[in-house]
Amino acid sequence: MRTQIVIVGAGPAGLMLGRLLEQAGVESVILERRSPDYVLGRIRAGVLEQGSVDLLDRAGAGARMHAEGLVHEGVGLSFDGDRHRIDFSALIGRQVMVYGQTEVTRDLMAARQAPSIYEAENVELHDVDGAPWVSYVKDGVSQRIDCDFIAGCDGFHGPSRASLPEGALSLFERVYPFGWLGILVDRPPVEHELIYAHHARGFALCSQRSPSRSRYYIQVPEGERAADWSDTRFWDELRQRLDPATAEALPTGPSIEKSIAPLRSFVAEPLRFGKLFLAGDAAHIVPPTGAKGLNLAMSDVALLADALIEFYGEKSTAGIDAYSAHALARIWKAERFSWWMTSLFHTFPETGPFGRRIQRAEFDYLVGSVAAQQSLAENYTGLR
Ligand code: APR
Ligand code: PHB
Repeated sequence: MRTQIVIVGAGPAGLMLGRLLEQAGVESVILERRSPDYVLGRIRAGVLEQGSVDLLDRAGAGARMHAEGLVHEGVGLSFDGDRHRIDFSALIGRQVMVYGQTEVTRDLMAARQAPSIYEAENVELHDVDGAPWVSYVKDGVSQRIDCDFIAGCDGFHGPSRASLPEGALSLFERVYPFGWLGILVDRPPVEHELIYAHHARGFALCSQRSPSRSRYYIQVPEGERAADWSDTRFWDELRQRLDPATAEALPTGPSIEKSIAPLRSFVAEPLRFGKLFLAGDAAHIVPPTGAKGLNLAMSDVALLADALIEFYGEKSTAGIDAYSAHALARIWKAERFSWWMTSLFHTFPETGPFGRRIQRAEFDYLVGSVAAQQSLAENYTGLR
């Protein structure tokens, strides 16, 4: 088989890239290790910047998001129980859309017409610096696809980044000594907007998926196991980290999903090696504080799609040559913001009482300064 672009991975990055390419008449084949049901069973974040909303519209996959998504004009913050609201609309005239990544993935999958090969095993990249091809095994039979370019949209653990020779990439990483224990529950959100809470016992987040489904997280030390957290234990711990009124109002219920995600900041540079481009989690990871992961994946593939469309349409390599530098400029700003929000809201045992006083001062400065709030609002709703 031969195609123009092989896309490895059918997460939001791969599916969006494939969709933008197919709309422009550029051929692609998506190779995904898992089944569609498995991909749609993963619970991920759910806050879309305006740029991601616009991109979903451009992809012709925005109808359900506009019908079911929730527009949020602000976000709640709490520090040791002191509550404040950051009013995005009043501060900068922008908003975010709360709509689950799982739903984004479902809508993009439904929109795609070009071939996708699910349950493709042993995906391997070959000759990425020359005449690239990809091999895989489907139903026990080895297959080969030759192509012009490969888009590595296969997440942090995928084969694309791993296939590059030693020394081809510079890696930048910070691993945080804690994770987020998250639960999903069929109960209405405790408040209309999200609440990010700092507490001496650790970070907590009240989020949501719909008017009847909520998502909550608490910071837990690394090495913790979800199985050791009964629902009762989770709710008790969450209540202690929220302000008393919110803790009192919390609509608790049986969890329908419970899992722990590690926190990491990671960037690989550059994003291009020969005919291979990296995009999304394959190239970078942000800690979830600030909800930038999905939005960065979207902005990467918007740039990459336009660059490839320009290559085929105008026979110009300007876009593909500039892709890495272009995308990295935005990526590092999102890395900075996610690191900053993580630093402000979590407890870091190693920084001691001095560290907590500095966090308190940072919070007081933020809620007392319109400029600081505008900065948060700009970053949270998405830098252009
Ligand atoms: N072969 C084929 N596909 C693979 C392989 C492989 N060997 N390894 C991984 N994949 C697939 C995964 O199964 C997954 O469906 O690549 C896809 C990568 O998707 P995501 O992990 O969702 O990454 P991305 O599309 O970049 O989206 C980024 O996802 O993890 C969140 O916080 C992140 O919200 C952000 C978003
Ligand atoms: C989520 O709803 O899962 C979520 C929301 C905001 C974040 C992270 C996760 O910052």
